[in-house]
Amino acid sequence: MIKHLRSAADLDAPTATLILDTAGEMAALAGREVKKLPTLRGRTVVNLFYEDSTRTRISFEAAAKRLSADVINFSAKGSSVSKGESLKDTALTLQAMGADAVVIRHPASGAPHRLAQWVDGSVVNAGDGTHEHPTQALLDAYTMRSRLGRLDGLKVAIVGDVLHSRVARSNVLLLTTLGAQVTLVGPPTLIPLNVAAALSPKTKVSYDLDSVLPDMDVVMMLRVQTERMQDSYFPSAREYSRRYGLDLARMRKLPEHAIVMHPGPMNRGMEITPEVADSSRSTIVEQVANGVSARMAVLYLLLGGKA
Ligand code: NCD
Repeated sequence: MIKHLRSAADLDAPTATLILDTAGEMAALAGREVKKLPTLRGRTVVNLFYEDSTRTRISFEAAAKRLSADVINFSAKGSSVSKGESLKDTALTLQAMGADAVVIRHPASGAPHRLAQWVDGSVVNAGDGTHEHPTQALLDAYTMRSRLGRLDGLKVAIVGDVLHSRVARSNVLLLTTLGAQVTLVGPPTLIPLNVAAALSPKTKVSYDLDSVLPDMDVVMMLRVQTERMQDSYFPSAREYSRRYGLDLARMRKLPEHAIVMHPGPMNRGMEITPEVADSSRSTIVEQVANGVSARMAVLYLLLGGKA
């Protein structure tokens, strides 16, 4: 087993499949009255969050607690980070406290890689800048596999603000490793071609959502990340929605069995309409539940559990 999960590229197909299978076993636990395993008793997991988060943070906390680990939640707001303490000094503090795993979300791409040089425990990337979010890719792959029965040969469209999306990057890497065929869709300004090619030469690119939909098994809508935009990438929100938003009329172009995904948080009315987000084809709430199982599997396996 690998020691750190910094990038979806850390995962080869057998390792990724082992994590997904283990997540399935963890999910079975969620149906029980007592949702807890003693596996990580006496181990310490630190959640180190330098960026806002709802789902990912709660999910990692729930995952560690269900495995009986001691959980320390650290958020940059209200800590010595606001006094200017560096990531390195914070890391050394965690090291001194004997953290077995550090889950980190940070606005700087590459922060988890640096952190792994300073602490002895396992480092799990919970989102670094616009770079990667590997556990999101795992929970997404898990959701696709449990809904559609396979990943190999699956056709997945990832739609929207690819440029700023760590979710897209990690998904392309993991899905390609597992044999799915990914098409990136969005305005040319938000799909850097060199990035698409560098991620995987097999990845396709399209600027026309309507023509892509009839052929897809999965459509994953991305949040338009205005907080990361320094320039204007499209004329207006209305224009964006008109061309790349998923509404009911567009959803009907998908094959009957296809599912609609979104990592959250959503801009309802921008990249996805409320009717689509709340429809029976949407797996958005399921993705959140699967996130706990996937993160349990990651913590369990990284910290030395056997399959
Ligand atoms: C994503 C993130 O933070 O990268 N959200 C998440 O983790 N569920 C996507 C986003 O912010 O749009």
